[in-house]
Amino acid sequence: MVGAPLILAFESSCDDTSVAVVQGTTVLANLISSQAIHAEWGGVIPELASRAHLEIIGSLTKQALRQAGVGMEQVDALACTTQPGLLGALLVGASYAKGLSLRYGLPCVPVHHIEGHLYSAYLEDPSLPFPSVSLVVSGGHTSLFLTESFSKYTILGSTRDDAAGEAFDKAAKLLGLGYPGGAVIDKRSTRERKDIIRFPRALVNEAGYEFSFSGVKTAVRRHILENHPEGMTERECDDICSSLQEAIVDVLVTKTMRAVREHGVEAVVISGGVSANSRLRERFAEEAENHGIRFTAPRISYSLDNAAMIGFLAHRKLLSDGPEAYRHLDFEVSARGYRDHRHGSRVNR
Ligand code: KG4
Ligand code: ZN
Repeated sequence: MVGAPLILAFESSCDDTSVAVVQGTTVLANLISSQAIHAEWGGVIPELASRAHLEIIGSLTKQALRQAGVGMEQVDALACTTQPGLLGALLVGASYAKGLSLRYGLPCVPVHHIEGHLYSAYLEDPSLPFPSVSLVVSGGHTSLFLTESFSKYTILGSTRDDAAGEAFDKAAKLLGLGYPGGAVIDKRSTRERKDIIRFPRALVNEAGYEFSFSGVKTAVRRHILENHPEGMTERECDDICSSLQEAIVDVLVTKTMRAVREHGVEAVVISGGVSANSRLRERFAEEAENHGIRFTAPRISYSLDNAAMIGFLAHRKLLSDGPEAYRHLDFEVSARGYRDHRHGSRVNR
């Protein structure tokens, strides 16, 4: 093996099937197939997600290898997401990777999905310093980390209830804007009328780094019932979007920047689907400039659920543990995530 190993990586934890070919920090292919089927149900249906992963994973793998210009005989290692996520969905990607591992005699690196998000900023910007404070914010998770190295991080806090993306999605549903709704709310939001309605900022002034976003969704429901029982104009809908976005962004930025100050770090990073939010990026860029620290948000294709981040972290694990550590295939998949550990900090290894 000359240079960094060539890694074929799989991500199938929720409703996106992704296959990537990664060599060190070079991404040769990162294909993402989003399952449109869930839109009509207004949320992800686990059984449909598993079937859709199964239908596409083979052809997506061929396509990724073709795009990368490599064959299976050149691949040095495999990687797959093993937790957290929908059990049936995770099983598709992990079983496929294990199958290839047996067929080609390759090591297979199990990767924690949130750790993939956590380090995706280092794929985007390899010169980013440690330690950093990292906000992972998506439809499934909202957690804040202190990241000290590729093998050591601590959870500072997580959401007690809904994730920030879930609040965007549930509010969008109440407003009849479809699913998932974060990007639509972002597009409809204006800066001029961002605080027309003062939605709650839960736990913003409390000590600690826990979040709570179920209240803001309830506040949107109440606002609609009380003020627009017969329906609303486009402008009124835009006002709700702008104000909701501002409330969510305000909490995320305020708490993250408090962690930056408390831990004296020189870099702040955001990742996960909600990190695509334009107002969130704008606010973090301003805050980082004011504090004289680095701010990185990975490009959208490394930010959404994607296999490039899984392949990149697998590369780091292979560097520190060596390929022999990943030759046994007795690892299991698990639906469990950090919510199960939210009352304590968790250190990776
Ligand atoms: O990381 P991701 O693809 O999947 C999960 O692990 O959840 O994130 C999807 C989430 C959805 O909740 C979606 O509404 C949200 O990211 N999202 C956004 C934006 N783009 C995607 N939320 C706010 N603003 C956006 N521009
Ligand atoms: Zn995710």
